[in-house]
Amino acid sequence: MLQLESRPTLSGSKVFLVILRTTRKKRGKSVRKAMGLADNRWSLKGMSALVTGGTKGIGYAIVEELAKLGARVHTCSRNEAELKGCLKAWEGKGFVVTGSVCDVSSKAQREKLMESVSSVFNGMLNILVSCPSSM
Ligand SMILES: NC(=O)c1ccc[n+]([C@@H]2O[C@H](COP(=O)([O-])OP(=O)(O)OC[C@H]3O[C@@H](n4cnc5c(N)ncnc54)[C@H](OP(=O)(O)O)[C@@H]3O)[C@@H](O)[C@H]2O)c1
Repeated sequence: MLQLESRPTLSGSKVFLVILRTTRKKRGKSVRKAMGLADNRWSLKGMSALVTGGTKGIGYAIVEELAKLGARVHTCSRNEAELKGCLKAWEGKGFVVTGSVCDVSSKAQREKLMESVSSVFNGMLNILVSCPSSM
């Protein structure tokens, strides 16, 4: 669990290292079964997650998966219109997802993002997933 009071930056502090790999559908199914996902024994209820670059590609899929498992998710991207569109779509699906416009290649914007995340999650962040290839 990451205490946000120490004002970490995204570059300096990683909670979980997430390795993004493409897996075959068959292998994915057996992994889901082994983790208890198939029969809902595994839950992220009460957990908070920050997914940077969540409006497209793998980041988008990770936001949906974490939200489906019950986590509260905050995401970011540079394009405000796309971010707003995604937040609206997730709200329509019943997911608890918030978002900020942020270019994670900018230190000042990363610091502002962490202030927003700290405020949204009351200072506690459980999961960090960093997606943009431009980082
Ligand atoms: N796609 C694949 O098949 C694949 C396979 C294996 C691994 N990966 C890895 O997975 C990661 C994601 O790849 P991807 O192809 O899914 O997507 P991507 O094009 O790298 O990123 C898509 C998301 O990141 C946001 N983004 C990009 N630059 C950003 C920045 N500087 N600040 C904030 N947000 C930013 C985009 O929104 P905005 O443009 O609006 O900011 C969008 O939401 C990469 O590290 C890639 O190397 C991808």
